[in-house]
Amino acid sequence: MADHVKVLTLDTMNPNVKKVEYAVRGPIVQRAVQIEMELQQGVKKPFTEVIRANIGDCHAMGQKPITFFRQVLSICSYPDLLDDDRFPEDVKSRARRILQACSGGSLGIQGCGVIGAPSPPSGSYSTSQGILLVRQDVARYIEKRDGGIKCNPDNIYLTAGASDGIVTMLKLLVSGEGPSRTGVMISIPQYPLYSATLAELAAVQINYYLDEESCWSLDIRELRRALEEARKHCTPRVLCIINPGNPTGQVQSRRCIEDVIQFAAEEKLFLLADEVYQDNVYADGCEFHSFKKVLFEMGPEFSEQVELASFHSTSKCYMGECGFRGGYMEVVNLDPEVKFQLTKLVSVRLCPPVTGQALLDLVVNPPEPHEPSYNIFIKERSHTLAELAKKASMTQQILSQVPGIQCNPVQGAMYTFPRIHIPPKAVSAAQEKGQAPDMFYCMRLLEEMGICLVPGSGFGQKDGTYHFRMTILPPTQKLETVLEKIKEFHQSFTQQFS
Ligand SMILES: Cc1ncc(COP(=O)(O)O)c(C=O)c1O
Repeated sequence: MADHVKVLTLDTMNPNVKKVEYAVRGPIVQRAVQIEMELQQGVKKPFTEVIRANIGDCHAMGQKPITFFRQVLSICSYPDLLDDDRFPEDVKSRARRILQACSGGSLGIQGCGVIGAPSPPSGSYSTSQGILLVRQDVARYIEKRDGGIKCNPDNIYLTAGASDGIVTMLKLLVSGEGPSRTGVMISIPQYPLYSATLAELAAVQINYYLDEESCWSLDIRELRRALEEARKHCTPRVLCIINPGNPTGQVQSRRCIEDVIQFAAEEKLFLLADEVYQDNVYADGCEFHSFKKVLFEMGPEFSEQVELASFHSTSKCYMGECGFRGGYMEVVNLDPEVKFQLTKLVSVRLCPPVTGQALLDLVVNPPEPHEPSYNIFIKERSHTLAELAKKASMTQQILSQVPGIQCNPVQGAMYTFPRIHIPPKAVSAAQEKGQAPDMFYCMRLLEEMGICLVPGSGFGQKDGTYHFRMTILPPTQKLETVLEKIKEFHQSFTQQFS
């Protein structure tokens, strides 16, 4: 026993997992947690709290949940509340409707089947593709969003957040060896779920760069450059787009989306459209256009040919319900035999969380104007979106005043990705520590000011440029403090290393 050698070691484990990186919860956040503990233990710092602007977790940053959602979900979990006078009638009827659609009428309902026995809460699985009623409601929501373009509930798969759907589709799409290995085109800067999943699946990551000088827009010439380059060593099959963008906060124009679809059709690429920020559009003149809608409006030449999976989530927009793990994907033009394989693949994991499915149903089917919950719902939704819009504009305004920081308008989503000038002396100091220069910058910002951001290197950026990603989610006053502290820090950092 003394010489017991572990079966699972760094040498024997899956090497692809070792390549996975996820900056949003990386070393900066680990250090932030340590600093918080030190503060609790009474260690003196130049600040009294760590402000986390590193992750798009709305409720963690103080955003309030939508009352209607939480009321219905409470009843769904504990149906005795149906007798409680505090809940409006539309909340109760919505909860009944969802419960009736759940297997055994249960989403944590009393009565797990043993007659006469006490009834502890139990929760049933749903079908693997998701509860049919919810998929029908999602299909109606998509049809309404897209001006009447048909959506078949059979093409909807409910997911545990958008991440789950994106990973599932990538699993289906990656195959081949050597030059026939699937190449997946992702934007740089990107949301690190993509690079992490590609590393795990040993797919070939093909970087295409967004154009920082024109507000992080997407240029088809850059897509073509990246594709041609990649064809020398892999087989590009997939093009991923995030719109509105994370980490870059841009909203793609309709024209750009048409060009992307045309490009995908010409180059025979499967499109993955990550549209989790579809309600988060703030800038004048910007509008969200779904890939599905634009695809169908381009006519049958495209709508009958281009393969598309698009994703939405309960985690973002005005909902911000990240912990429920709700979401859906819609597949268009998927080969029926592959669709069978997809359904089989999702069956293995049984089903997405049923609470997340129930929440998604409310998101796609919110209170109607004649219902008692309507006014509060609209007030809460508008307030959240208006606050985000105010914070988006304040962020750009304050950061743009800082010499050495260049900040594009935050047109949508929940982030800014400003470019920071890091003096050569600081770059050398970072290199001596074996750190990326923007990691060095963000660590110093955390240690000196208690502000937790993510270095741009975690998202990818053009060589020789440096950025950080920051969410606009802290409450307005706190956000202002964060921005002022960044301003102060940037000036002193630049002076120190000039
Ligand atoms: C662009 C993008 N896609 C997907 C996700 C994953 O969201 P979830 O899995 O919570 O739906 C996020 C989360 O921040 C995101 O920013």
